Amino acid sequence: MKGGNYSSFGTYSGISGSGNVGNGTGKMSLGKSIKMYLTIFILTTCIYMALYQYHISREPFAASEVVKPPLYIITPTYRRPEQLAELTRLGYTLKHVVNLLWLVIEDANKTNPLVGHTLDRIGVPYEYMVAPMPEKYKQTKKAKPRGVSNRNRGLEYLREHATEGVLYFADDDNTYDISIFEQMRYINKVAMWPVGLVTKTGVSSPIIQEGKLVGYYDGWIGGRKYPVDMAGFAVSVKFLKERPDAQMPFKPGYEEDGFLRSLAPLDDAEIELLADECRDILTWHTQTKKNAPGQALNRTRYKNTNLEHIDRLLVRP
Ligand code: UGA
Ligand code: MN
Repeated sequence: MKGGNYSSFGTYSGISGSGNVGNGTGKMSLGKSIKMYLTIFILTTCIYMALYQYHISREPFAASEVVKPPLYIITPTYRRPEQLAELTRLGYTLKHVVNLLWLVIEDANKTNPLVGHTLDRIGVPYEYMVAPMPEKYKQTKKAKPRGVSNRNRGLEYLREHATEGVLYFADDDNTYDISIFEQMRYINKVAMWPVGLVTKTGVSSPIIQEGKLVGYYDGWIGGRKYPVDMAGFAVSVKFLKERPDAQMPFKPGYEEDGFLRSLAPLDDAEIELLADECRDILTWHTQTKKNAPGQALNRTRYKNTNLEHIDRLLVRP
């Protein structure tokens, strides 16, 4: 930006250097003085335009964007071959959204520089933290509470650093239409909306009748008060902070329900219904096919080739 403006200055000053201004004789013909005034006029206009452009380029956001409430997107992630691909895809979706902080929290004991590098390259404002799944859940042969310690770490971060705006749990492997982010930005307490492709049911959604939330449609109800998908709700930061004990339970299948219940008191009538009053699908619970980790590179055979570099970019167990 900056450089561009300076080069504009250069171009404009080139006009005055074209030899039209004065010839040192003192007297000027009418034609010459018209030319001179015209040159001065054009020059002044150009300088003014360049300065104005420079001024605009230094503004961090357009005025209309500054006032938008912030979005806090909590994304659990974990080490696997698809990790960088998932984060890249999600990151470039989030890049279309202003005033957003991406809280990327890895289920690990330490951060991975490859993840940090990927996040840097995408260029969305982010915090990269770790929150390992407790050992007892890792060892279990039963279903694991995936992404729970990560999300609770995100909530802890918000309690410490955020005062306003909205939080949303965006798993790293799902698919998001950016218009949902602009809709959730302005909610008061909790909002819900449909999520496509969850199970054979094809969609998980609040059921709305005459503008009111009357129940939930989901492939598995399981005695839940809120049978919703992780991708189908958002919560206001202020509302969260008024409930200091709210968090997500380490209870596979009941993560969303447990978290939403922990936000009580919350009246059904207070739940805002987004995505055209739940008549549209803007988020999708997608799943990437699991891939085997890349095999080790034959370092002798590919010595001194680019493959030595590429090999260091792969996430292996
Ligand atoms: C679904 C829900 O969307 C999850 O929010 C919920 O936690 C999960 O079911 C559950 O009930 O166990 P699903 O697509 O089946 O999710 O699970 P994953 O996508 O494998 O995991 C959810 C999130 O947790 C992802 O962002 C993933 O990166 C992360 N994760 C997964 C971990 O941090 N650690 C793991 O060991 C596995
Ligand atoms: Mn998933």
